[in-house]
Amino acid sequence: MQDTSFAIHPGKKNQLKDTTYHDIGNLKHVKKSGKDVQFTGEQGYVKIRFYRSDSVRVVMNPFEEPSMKSSFALVKEPEDVKIVVNEETDSITIDSSHIKLVVKRKPFRISAYDANARPLVLETEMGMVYKENKEVICFKKMSENDHFYGFGEKAGFLDKRGEKYTMWNSDVYAPHNPETNALYESIPYFMTLRDGKAHGIYFDNTFKTVFDMKTGKNTYSFSADGGQIDYYILAGPTPKDVVEQYTDLTGRMPLPPKWSLGYHQSRYSYETEKEVRELANTFLEKGIPLDAIYLDIHYMDGYRVFTFDHGRFPTPGKMIQDLKVKGIRTVPIVDPGVKEDPEYAIYSDGILGDLFCKYLEGNIFFGDVWPGNSAFPDFTNSKVRKWWGRKHKFYTDLGIEGIWNDMNEPAVFNETKTMDVKVMHDNDGDLKTHREMHNVYGLYMGESTYNGMKSLLDGKRPFLLTRAGFSGVQRYGAVWTGDNRSFWEHLSMALPMCMNLGLSGVAFTGPDVGGFAHGTSAELLARWTQFGTFTPYFRNHSALEFARQEPWSFGEKYESIIKKYIELRYKWLPHLYTLFKEASETGVPVMRPLLMESPYDSNTYKLSDQFLIGENVIIAPILKPDTRHRVVYLPEGDWYDYWNDHKYRGGNHVLVEADLDTLPIFIKAGAVLSEGEVKQSTAVADEKMTIHVYPVEEGQSAYTFYDDDGETFAYQDGITVEKRISCYFDENTVKITIDEQNSRFEPKWEKVTFVLHDQTKETAVIVDDRQLDENELTFNCSIKTLTFNISM
Ligand code: GLC
Repeated sequence: MQDTSFAIHPGKKNQLKDTTYHDIGNLKHVKKSGKDVQFTGEQGYVKIRFYRSDSVRVVMNPFEEPSMKSSFALVKEPEDVKIVVNEETDSITIDSSHIKLVVKRKPFRISAYDANARPLVLETEMGMVYKENKEVICFKKMSENDHFYGFGEKAGFLDKRGEKYTMWNSDVYAPHNPETNALYESIPYFMTLRDGKAHGIYFDNTFKTVFDMKTGKNTYSFSADGGQIDYYILAGPTPKDVVEQYTDLTGRMPLPPKWSLGYHQSRYSYETEKEVRELANTFLEKGIPLDAIYLDIHYMDGYRVFTFDHGRFPTPGKMIQDLKVKGIRTVPIVDPGVKEDPEYAIYSDGILGDLFCKYLEGNIFFGDVWPGNSAFPDFTNSKVRKWWGRKHKFYTDLGIEGIWNDMNEPAVFNETKTMDVKVMHDNDGDLKTHREMHNVYGLYMGESTYNGMKSLLDGKRPFLLTRAGFSGVQRYGAVWTGDNRSFWEHLSMALPMCMNLGLSGVAFTGPDVGGFAHGTSAELLARWTQFGTFTPYFRNHSALEFARQEPWSFGEKYESIIKKYIELRYKWLPHLYTLFKEASETGVPVMRPLLMESPYDSNTYKLSDQFLIGENVIIAPILKPDTRHRVVYLPEGDWYDYWNDHKYRGGNHVLVEADLDTLPIFIKAGAVLSEGEVKQSTAVADEKMTIHVYPVEEGQSAYTFYDDDGETFAYQDGITVEKRISCYFDENTVKITIDEQNSRFEPKWEKVTFVLHDQTKETAVIVDDRQLDENELTFNCSIKTLTFNISM
């Protein structure tokens, strides 16, 4: 009905919503008990607990003492934080070294300030309230200069001020547009940037939640259909600090296998073994790098997960091994729906072991998905997660190291598009309805798949791609942004969507390159591949019955452009890998909005059409058809055009030319970057490493080069190579020092080529206190680079 004019029928106005809010009232008493400060209000109870001195949890329950049990998203145990509680006449203050909470007694209101009395989160005349229907809402003051980011996977522009979003994991095949509210992921977290400083809020509530930065003039709110108000204030003060604080609570991405960072080719579906083999051979014949081929639903026997259709794929094990020898991994899709078929082992196991989602009354929930009538594993039960995880032996025995989880919202082909909200999840004995657990179903499935694969892979890193998730999904998998279309608008939309996912802790993300449905065009595929070269996850995927979009689908001219960019991805892999390492340690994303590095520069606050890789590389893709130029904003500092070393003064908008085979890329003066070799796949180790140095006037800069075996967890035991490269520039001298911080992993390359950009022939180069001889240096007079080789 929503899609007809009935939605704006005047009679609908009469269907008024219940807007009677119950306020918590005045404070009756307060006491400190262990780690908590507990408050009793006239109509509600509140507990406050510090997790770190810069991260505090506030829990309100209108009806009973708040439960301090957290959702599955939380991995952090509270630290021992020293707090000082002061009871004053009108208020109570609770002070850690980073956050000061002021709790007003009449009425009960909480405000949070940082150590310098900078207001972080202030309550309005309305504070924490609830409605008769058990909805809980939290209102906060919105200042004129507040900008909002995060919220996980959302359509629209970068800054979410003026938007209202629902978190309800949803399968949306209809074209995503700025009004598409709920998508596949729910990440009830955001960051506010105000006058250059940032703070965050994580709302740990798994019910359907709504974040409203649209309705109030001076207020914003977050609400949930049920449960408690349970949120964390993260004090920042920089955007990077907020992401670090948020991912300390919800976990970080373990380093993915290197092959998962290469170029991946997918299609719904490569339907037969013959087609897959031909596809792989075409990549090899054409010399186009490739690390993975995906098997969509057609590989299965009647869409039964953990099976192969032997008519279409007569020798899957052999095919997977043959591909692996060529450096290509195979990634099959695994959906949660298990076909109702008493002769199918996964189904009968599930029934006999009582492993499927069911109603309180005991009857199993069945829903229609690809295989027809299906049952759904109850992943909230740890026994079910272990069972499902172990079943992946079917895949690992065939040589598979990566799994693609789809339809795990869970999607069901019915009116509501999902499971009946009355289904009762086991939740390890703490029964909860699907209404409460819907948003975390995909997260639990991710845990099951990732850890199941990990225990089967004998020390190798598994790769998981997932469509649905909740806060914390980064611990298990990469997230792709679902069923987009081959629209230029969707190419544009992918930039802020991925940037906000990155700000929400999900560093490993990217859209279907070329667009999933609708049918791509040659130019769109070329421009989209240019963008994909720099998204953390890089997969070309398209749907049944739409135009083919393998790199060669549009003739030689386009093939060579697409190939050039896939090759460029491989050159940039060593640098991208250092950024993945950073993300795995701090949560700070690989792909960043410019505001992350320039939070005081208001020109960056709404910049949706360009982004950073790390701290010093700007990518500004062409996002419109038949367009050969665009405006790029370069923040303060000097910037070099990656292609020709032309130097720009920052703090300016510049107009740049970009013919069809050019992706505008700018490198900040002072940047030090590593570059690898073009290769067929990551299975080929770099034999040559190049370090590019872009000088900064009379200054210094540094870079930590990082590498490891790229496929095992040995890096967690310190089997890595880490070298700190420091560069000092003055008028005629470049001084470089290399500090070996770790060398327990031995890379294949022995010598490193340094390329010093923007130099003269006269520049003196000193490496680790030794001035290089003239004959050790090569000067390229056309692009003004000085090159030399050293052992590193
Ligand atoms: C869903 C997925 C898509 C996949 C298709 C068939 O629409 O989002 O990527 O190709 O299902 O499995």
